Amino acid sequence: MGEKMRVLYVQGMGCERCEARVKDALAAVQGVNKVIVSRIAGEVHVNCADTVADEALLDAVKSLEKYTVCGMDDGNVRPEQMERIETQEQAQAFIDAQVDLLRKQIGDGKVLLALSGGVDSSVVAALLIKAVGKQLTAIHVNHGLMRKGESQQVIDVFEKQLGANLVYVDATDRFLDKLAGVADPETKRKIIGGEFIDVFDEEAAKLTGIGFLGQGTIYPDILESKDGIKAHHNVGGLPEDVKLELVEPVKLLFKDEVRVVGAALGLPDEMVNRQPFPGPGLGVRCVGAITRDRLEAVRESDAILREEFANAGLNKTVWQYFTVVPDFKATGVKDGKRAFEWICIIRAVNTKDAMSATIERIDWELLEKISYRITHEVPGITRCVYDVTSKPVATIEYE
Ligand code: XMP
Repeated sequence: MGEKMRVLYVQGMGCERCEARVKDALAAVQGVNKVIVSRIAGEVHVNCADTVADEALLDAVKSLEKYTVCGMDDGNVRPEQMERIETQEQAQAFIDAQVDLLRKQIGDGKVLLALSGGVDSSVVAALLIKAVGKQLTAIHVNHGLMRKGESQQVIDVFEKQLGANLVYVDATDRFLDKLAGVADPETKRKIIGGEFIDVFDEEAAKLTGIGFLGQGTIYPDILESKDGIKAHHNVGGLPEDVKLELVEPVKLLFKDEVRVVGAALGLPDEMVNRQPFPGPGLGVRCVGAITRDRLEAVRESDAILREEFANAGLNKTVWQYFTVVPDFKATGVKDGKRAFEWICIIRAVNTKDAMSATIERIDWELLEKISYRITHEVPGITRCVYDVTSKPVATIEYE
């Protein structure tokens, strides 16, 4: 356990017959353990946990006519020849190959996964459920900073529809109590991150016999990390000597490919095409010290904005959009009485890489409608403003 899988990429037609021929050639190699042959995006892949046998495997494959061995690595390099997954058929081929690989890797072992509801962890969960069903335990920690309906959707999709072994933890009070009175953005982030690991570890410690840790690592994570391997937090609640073998089925995919695979797995559109959402959730949009009532105002106004953007079709074109409610008030009139309540900021931006961003030039009529709904439906808001600042100078988020 814990060994790195080495991968041998063999360029061929990626058909069943190619796979069978490669398997035959490998069968002749003596003393090789745990070899997985699969077809992924037009190639035959040979995964081998036994590094001593690499040379023998290489020779065996090289001896086949019409095949070129394109590369060999520790499994963290995307082969140049790997086709971009764009169609339902390509996604299905990827899913079939991964299900096969996951079954072979995990055997009758047990896998643990932190399921946030984001696209990467959701796709990994769906693949694992398909491959090993109840051998997967997914833990969803609701830190109380989720968008409206998000945790419920995780329960509906994974527990009710896909029959997953899901541990749902509503840790709202725990997070909000720790965050009470904390206004500094970095301290807020640290509290949220630290508490998340603590809750996850406590839940993991209640489980027995876990041998594998599923992760939603995607290829940009590998490219961006300095040493080529994404840092992952160990499940500290488990005994020290338990080393979990990583299971990262989408680690060679780009985000757009993960979305295509998610759609082919039947995950709902809102989950698959979810806009980016910061790990600390709505916590960074409830600027300053978080209070439950202002957090609720962020959540409700965000839900209205998302609904109106979806009705106008902007959810398909705008990269990221959300509301922010700082701890700042302005005068208004509600029910004939003076009301001194919060201001809601609406932000909608477009970007390619989030390094720089421009604002969406939103239609005035739609903006007015959103403002009307937010000020009339969300308690505590008397005014809406639209943020017209590009990045730089402004960052996308407010904290
Ligand atoms: P900024 O605000 O730096 O954001 O312009 C760039 C992109 O990153 C997202 N973001 C985060 N994502 N954890 C995350 O997972 C975070 O703490 C975080 N902060 C910002 C942000 O939503 C935007 O898409």
